[in-house]
This record gives sequence, structure tokens and C-alpha cells, in this order.
Amino acid sequence: MRFNILTIFPDFFTGPFDHGVLSRAITTGLVEVATHDLRAFTHDRHRTVDDRPFGGGEGMVLKPQPIFECIEAFGADETTTIAPKSTRDTTRQSVILLSAQGRPFTQATAHRLAKMEQVVLICGRYEGVDERVSDLLADEELSIGDYVLSGGELAAAIIVDATVRLIPGVLGHADSNRYESFGVADHQPEDPDDGKTADGVPRSTHGAGGILDYPHYTRPADFRGTPIPDVLAGGDHAAIRHWRRQMALAKTLRNRPDLLARAPLTREDRAYLATLGYRPTS
Ligand code: ADE
Repeated sequence: MRFNILTIFPDFFTGPFDHGVLSRAITTGLVEVATHDLRAFTHDRHRTVDDRPFGGGEGMVLKPQPIFECIEAFGADETTTIAPKSTRDTTRQSVILLSAQGRPFTQATAHRLAKMEQVVLICGRYEGVDERVSDLLADEELSIGDYVLSGGELAAAIIVDATVRLIPGVLGHADSNRYESFGVADHQPEDPDDGKTADGVPRSTHGAGGILDYPHYTRPADFRGTPIPDVLAGGDHAAIRHWRRQMALAKTLRNRPDLLARAPLTREDRAYLATLGYRPTS
């Protein structure tokens, strides 16, 4: 899989991509990340990438021409060609404009992107990007949250990080990302009301699909007078799974109650949440 990032600050990415999982995925060849300096696709002495907005108003707008020419130049190399928008297979290639006006980027988006061959990330700057980039070039416009960044670079780094760790082989253990917070539908129990797995352990304790993760502890067992919960030291794995599920539910109710309305919950989950005062609206 290859990411192509269009930016006026290509050096911005040397830090974020030089550490840990991401750096390993790049050096082992599981993913390629290329940054492209938009100023290299300008034709004037000042290497101008922006201009004043038609109709007046504050700030400057990124011009469409360097962005279009940058992507068209990928065609020089067979492996990186991006098809024209009208014929592009968007299950294999996606051109994404990063902006605060975009659709929310979620774990489900990361899973979808992780299956692609090529993802192009266009980092917006200034007051905006000429709308013809969104209309004629980009397949989607994504936002990483309801706040305004000074540019799309941080958003691009976040999207690359969240996506790359889902590519098979990138994380050491095949299941490392299966049961974490925001796991998407294909990682959730098929029948949440079924209640029990083959070994008799309540299915709901298997992981966090759709809710927040459970709390984690490591050594020492007693840190400054605060011990770890007894159940974790007891060796009863069914009891541990049960406790983790309850803690995950409690934390979700406390920090992200909005997730509970969409999460696949068992009867047992609902009964536990009721003891915490949760009343589903539907
Ligand atoms: N550019 C400015 N704000 C942004 C956001 N929230 N997400 C993605 N790109 C942005």
C-alpha cells in the first residue's frame, strides 16, 4: 500500500513517520509513504501556491493548479498512477482532501483505507482549498474532529498512523487490534444477544467492539499504596474477562455515553449498565 501526501511542508512528516510501528512498516516495505512538495508544481518565481478568494473575504486559498499537476505527475511512474476521478476504482484508490469541513474520520474509515493500494492525502492550508479540488479530483473530504487545525498535515499523519497499524503483518500479533476500542462490525460478536461462547464465558466479555477499552495494569501490583484489582491477580480467566467487560462498559458510560446507543450489547451488559443508572433512549 502506498500513501502520497501533498503538502507545502514536506519536512513536517519526518518526525511522525520515524518512530515505532509506522517506521517499521515503512522499512519492512509493508507500506510506502511519499511526500510531495506542492511548491515544486508552481511555475512562478515566488513558487506561489495560494491566492486571494473570489468574492472577497479573509485569508488566502490554495490554488487548484499545483495540486492537480502534482497528482497528474504520479502518472510518470506506473506503480503510482492515479486514475481520473470518473474512472477511478475507489475500492483500490482514494484521493482525500483533509479539511475541517470533511466527513468524520473513524476507525471504520481506517479499516476501509487499510484495504486500498493507493491513498492520496491532500493537506489543506490557509483559509481553504479551491473547491474544484473537492469537485473534480478528490473522492472524499475527511476531518479528524470538530476543531480547526492550521493545516491538514497533522490530520494526514493521524490518518496514516491509524490506517497502517491495521494492515496485515504490521502489528506483531495478528489479533492485536481486534478487540480494542472502536473495533468495527466485522470484529464484533455476530449475535450479541446469544450470551455465551463455547466455553461458557459470556460473549460480552470478549472485547471492546464498539465501546471503549477496559483498564490495563502492570507491575508493581501495589503502586504507592494503590493495589491492582484483586480479580486480575486471581488467575480466573472467565472472571477477568467478565470484569474487563464491566469496566469497559462503565468507562464508556462515563466518557462516551453516545457510543452505547450503537454498540452491540448483550442482555447482561444492559443489566449491568442499568445498575450504573444507564437508561437507553430507544
Ligand atoms: N484542516 C483543518 N482542520 C482540520 C480537521 N479538523 N481535520 C482535517 N483537516 C483539517
